[in-house]
Amino acid sequence: MIHPVIMAGGTGSRLWPLSRQLNPKQFLKLTDSPLSMLQSTVARLEGLDAEQPLLICNEEHRFLAAEQMRQSGQEDVQIILEPSGRNTAPAIALAAIQLCEHANGSNPLMLVLAADHLIQDTMAFQAGVTKAIPLAEQGKLVTFGIVPSHPETGYGYIHRGSELADDCYAVDSFVEKPDLATANKYLASGEYLWNSGMFLFSARDYLRELETHRPDILSACRAAIADASEDLHFTRVNAELFAQCPSESVDYAVMEKTDKAAVVALDAGWSDIGSWSALWDVSTKDDAGNSLTGDVITRDTANTLVRADSRLVATVGVDNLVIIETKDALLVAHKDRVQDVKAVVEQIRDDG
Ligand code: GDD
Ligand code: MG
Repeated sequence: MIHPVIMAGGTGSRLWPLSRQLNPKQFLKLTDSPLSMLQSTVARLEGLDAEQPLLICNEEHRFLAAEQMRQSGQEDVQIILEPSGRNTAPAIALAAIQLCEHANGSNPLMLVLAADHLIQDTMAFQAGVTKAIPLAEQGKLVTFGIVPSHPETGYGYIHRGSELADDCYAVDSFVEKPDLATANKYLASGEYLWNSGMFLFSARDYLRELETHRPDILSACRAAIADASEDLHFTRVNAELFAQCPSESVDYAVMEKTDKAAVVALDAGWSDIGSWSALWDVSTKDDAGNSLTGDVITRDTANTLVRADSRLVATVGVDNLVIIETKDALLVAHKDRVQDVKAVVEQIRDDG
């Protein structure tokens, strides 16, 4: 039986102005589905031989997370609350420590999932997870790899090694977020997969690798969760102790360093919808290539994404734009520049 662990503590700032501090990406409905990204992540597990998911998110989103779980019929879900974000290596460590505590000496397998990904082919996803189980049982830290389509610098890259089983490979190296020249080289070689940011490993193997490579993170997490307070379905990690934990992603802290990594190649229509153009890529479009949501009129408009939340939006004679209208903010951006939305959010934050 596997234990899904859903990481839902990100900020999703490149999807501003829809994604906000109090209502970030993972809690939004971004696609045609009536479910939020988090709810879709939970729904994708149905049919797998899995325990109830364990959620880990920021304390300020506890009501949002609990309410969305309740709507998904998962009112008993356990939620670990982080008083401050310390990135994914500590988040996974907290979940692993808690799973071990309740495991009666066994070694639970954790299926670590991001709460904000789109996966169009659930069956292929579940088949990939099933292939990963024997590897994780042999002590591997398994990632799920995606065949790259462009030199994305926001992803981790996995150099495939020898084939271990059908679609399963050893990992020769793991490079988190390479620069553009390196990403281009990797893409051209045909030997690399993107890291999807989903993992399967045993809780004890993860904690052992973290102890080897980042003992400072492990000891801070152990201290912070040992002094947690339990309150219904919430585990509140000690704020003062967790504040002392270094902030690092699992990719840098463990996956780049471990020699126990393996990868299962996945062809499941995966997208992390990291930006507005990524959402345009996967959305349903009209004949002119426009993806329109809400009250929108277009004339001579092509390849444009428009979301109108509170007003009528009209476009005339434009192409390759992203227009996101909300009650209190409006974004107009060229589709090739959507990565820079993050800088706008930083500016707003700095300007106070
Ligand atoms: N609980 C918790 N706490 N969750 C977090 C935190 C945190 O402090 N920080 C991020 N998360 C969650 C996010 O909500 C998301 O679901 C997931 O962890 C991954 O975090 P991102 O911040 O979105 O990572 P990334 O996109 O920069 O990079 C990761 O994903 C890529 C694929 O989308 C890496 O794993 C890359 O290697 C990978 O290619
Ligand atoms: Mg991401």
